[in-house]
Amino acid sequence: MTNLSRRRLLASGGAAAAAGATLPLWTWAPSASIAGTGDGLDPEYVWDVRADPVIERLYGEGIAKVAEVNEILKGWTRNDQPLPDGLPTYLEDFIEEARALPAWADQGKLKLAGSFNEERYGFFLALLYTLGSGLISCAIKREAWSVYYSYGGSDMRDRIAKTTVLGYDVMDAQGWTATGSLMVNSVKTRMVHAAVRHLLPQSPHWASVGAGQEIPISQADILVTFHSLGTWVMRKFTEWDIAPSTELADAFLHAWNVDLHLLGVQEQYLPKDWAAAYAQYDQVMGPATGGTREGVELAQALLDSVIGEGNPVLRHELESLGRYVIGDAYADMIAFDKDPVLAPVWATSVPLLVTSYQSTVPNIPLVSNLLPEAVHTFIKIYFSPGDPAPITLPLSNRPE
Ligand code: HEM
Repeated sequence: MTNLSRRRLLASGGAAAAAGATLPLWTWAPSASIAGTGDGLDPEYVWDVRADPVIERLYGEGIAKVAEVNEILKGWTRNDQPLPDGLPTYLEDFIEEARALPAWADQGKLKLAGSFNEERYGFFLALLYTLGSGLISCAIKREAWSVYYSYGGSDMRDRIAKTTVLGYDVMDAQGWTATGSLMVNSVKTRMVHAAVRHLLPQSPHWASVGAGQEIPISQADILVTFHSLGTWVMRKFTEWDIAPSTELADAFLHAWNVDLHLLGVQEQYLPKDWAAAYAQYDQVMGPATGGTREGVELAQALLDSVIGEGNPVLRHELESLGRYVIGDAYADMIAFDKDPVLAPVWATSVPLLVTSYQSTVPNIPLVSNLLPEAVHTFIKIYFSPGDPAPITLPLSNRPE
């Protein structure tokens, strides 16, 4: 584990953040959602009414039973695959219901969203998800705390990368097909989140963090994570003047909404268009983010695991590029290095890359050479965690 320097912790404002946050009144209206209507309850106080009791019941049968279910579910990997035998009936019923795409899912849009990953946007999407969303996730206080103190916290890079990879896969047209695995992985993730709601409140650490939240991973929290991925990336594309066509942007949001549905988010919270998504982003992101000791450590662990411990020159270079990509406010929260020499280098070379994209004959591979090879390697390693371990229900919190 990374030894966190006192300087880094002070720079992140971590101690102050742990004192908690006052959340503003929830004003985002269900009329802006794809449901068009709803009770309008603040999602801060809504969890997963369908999955939580099912997973609670499973853990009630004992940890050996949970381990047995994990073994059985290892064999369930493809969207079109029947569930393996041997699951408790109540769990089977839940999974059968949860794996179905919603009636409003549009296969044409999901396929179109798949083209977002291709050549023209692919490099930027990978750059923004890894050195953007991946780092911002460490500045989301509750995400940092819950990831840190849950079982996966002991292998932090794996944990953070998996969230981003699932987000990235949402843009993979193959993921939604019969032979893909996005529906399976999303339902498994929904179950893992319900498991975290069961386990984490039992951690001796949870009461002192969590900003007053008793049960982790509310619907509001999931929306925040979505905004740190999908919405933040779309904002950045717009800021860099490489926003995709309205049709493609709409398909991108649609794919995210379908996935959020599979993750158990109620339709009354799913933004019907980008204007609604940005309004929700503005409402939830600010209070959700801040510096924490755990977030600073997570960000360092993320770098450690991709570039190895130590490696100060490369680390400094990546921190400085990361700072350029996510901006000073988020970079300060995770205490990333400031470099007055490198900062103008990024400020020149990244827009050059972007401009090259806008030219009639873009040559991304050539121009992206402006960025050091280390950045390409970082992205590549980030997205290939080696052994593609199946998503399994945690059997405990982070070992002490
Ligand atoms: C687990 C993705 C939101 C905390 C996971 C896993 C994935 C994932 C793929 C399974 C990883 C594995 O164990 O193999 C996502 C996505 C989200 C989201 C796509 C939203 C769009 C959140 C939020 C929180 C959170 C909001 C907390 C505030 C966790 C934790 C685990 C987990 C603690 C379990 C780690 C462990 O102990 O193994 N998530 N997640 N996630 N997620 Fe999320």
